[in-house]
Amino acid sequence: MKFFIDTANLAMIEEANALGILDGVTTNPSLMAKEGISGKENILNHYLKICDIVEGDVSAEVIGITYDEMIQEGEELAALHSQIVVKVPIIKDGIKAIKYFSQKGIRTNCTLIFSAGQALLAAKAGATYVSPFLGRLDDVSTDGLNLIEEIRTIFDNFGFETQILAASVRHSMHIINCAKIGADVVTCPLPPILSLLKHPLTDSGLDQFIKDSQKMK
Ligand code: E4P
Repeated sequence: MKFFIDTANLAMIEEANALGILDGVTTNPSLMAKEGISGKENILNHYLKICDIVEGDVSAEVIGITYDEMIQEGEELAALHSQIVVKVPIIKDGIKAIKYFSQKGIRTNCTLIFSAGQALLAAKAGATYVSPFLGRLDDVSTDGLNLIEEIRTIFDNFGFETQILAASVRHSMHIINCAKIGADVVTCPLPPILSLLKHPLTDSGLDQFIKDSQKMK
């Protein structure tokens, strides 16, 4: 399973990359706005800075919501750097745009997936990734993991190569359950990844080893 970090914060991306387990980055307009990035030139430069830090895929989302806008923006984003994956929302024009991009060899991440039917359409159109939003479904008392299981079954039934990118991942159990179900990728901020490290028996065991190692000197 691949680990992507879901942020546009360069310091957090650098910290995650330094762990040596980072496979890519996802961003969205809210995450870019949170970092105060605005204006076309600054936006494109920011994506380039992210590509300089990591070696893997970097999802950059289109802002337009018509077919023509998405095609123009997506082609510009894809031309920026070979690591860029064009992120497109699951709407009617988005599906048409994903089909166009896939025919042109431009990789895509179909975002805002909240149902198995949406994921199926995105895969049919040739999306490289689909992003089901696990945490946002859980927030409205709907089982987000169940959606990922459904998508896994459908993609396996028909041999779709589209990768399941579990998004809106909020805590370590989300990551572990996504791994059990067979999501191809999880994306989340750094804290849920770091919390995978935590166990009180590791802490107490290490304390004891440190104490006993003093006796060995
Ligand atoms: C996915 O690509 C989105 O950027 C993200 O995972 C959404 O997460 P949130 O629900 O925590 O905003």
